[in-house]
Amino acid sequence: MDGRIEQKIIKGDAYELIKEVKDKSIDLIITDPPYDIEGLHGSGIIKVRKKSFHKELISKNLDKGLNSAILADFCRVMKKINIYIWCNKEQILQYLNYFVKGKNCNYEIIIWAKEDPIPFCGTHYLIDKEYCLYFWEQGAPVKIPYERGKTVFIGRKNILDKNDYGHPTIKPIDIIETLILNSSKEGDIILDSFVGFGTTALAAKHTKRSFIGFEIDDEYYKIASDRLRGINKRGELNLFDVEED
Ligand SMILES: C[S@@+](CC[C@H](N)C(=O)[O-])C[C@H]1O[C@@H](n2cnc3c(N)ncnc32)[C@H](O)[C@@H]1O
Repeated sequence: MDGRIEQKIIKGDAYELIKEVKDKSIDLIITDPPYDIEGLHGSGIIKVRKKSFHKELISKNLDKGLNSAILADFCRVMKKINIYIWCNKEQILQYLNYFVKGKNCNYEIIIWAKEDPIPFCGTHYLIDKEYCLYFWEQGAPVKIPYERGKTVFIGRKNILDKNDYGHPTIKPIDIIETLILNSSKEGDIILDSFVGFGTTALAAKHTKRSFIGFEIDDEYYKIASDRLRGINKRGELNLFDVEED
């Protein structure tokens, strides 16, 4: 990054590539690592969820959770600890222990609540929300006006983006843009080590932030890179995101 606002997605393994990111060079991390679906398996919940959806998660290694070794690198590369991590219920404790107990950070729990969860009944509550944990330390660029201060985003499953881009765990871009506006300034550098279909990258572009991200999967890398240039999975252009010459 040479001072210009630009968004870069690099293909490869986040656990290795993060080693090449300079100390204290990143203003904000927003990341969405694989969820710990194996943990849910143990609880029996998984049996009642849609099998095809989980087959895709498992085939793409999206069920193993995060190797917590990367958390030290996250802290090393941030100027001040300033990080949003999407996770499921199984992972909350891991992150709270690390950042709140271990690093003395402030924290907030942001929820994406779904009005149309997969129906089932039995001995468990519905799986109708995803968590985005925010950890920050004194001096991080946090500025949250009233109209962007809500912690619960209610919506339906992200079907439109899933149809356009096809990623099983794609996040709503309006939520990510809100998080970026609340926790960084124009021109800042945002990192997402688990890019998926590039929602954080595109949100950074929309909000005039630089971006660096990593994606290990060939197919997802290509689709995220195309999406950043305004091309969806079917090769159609989204004029709003097309690059200017
Ligand atoms: C939960 S998805 C991210 C979805 C993203 N937030 C979006 O809206 O499209 C996690 C992504 O991390 C990628 N991934 C998993 N392990 C990785 C690794 N070691 N290095 C880089 N990417 C990895 C997966 O291929 C997957 O695309």
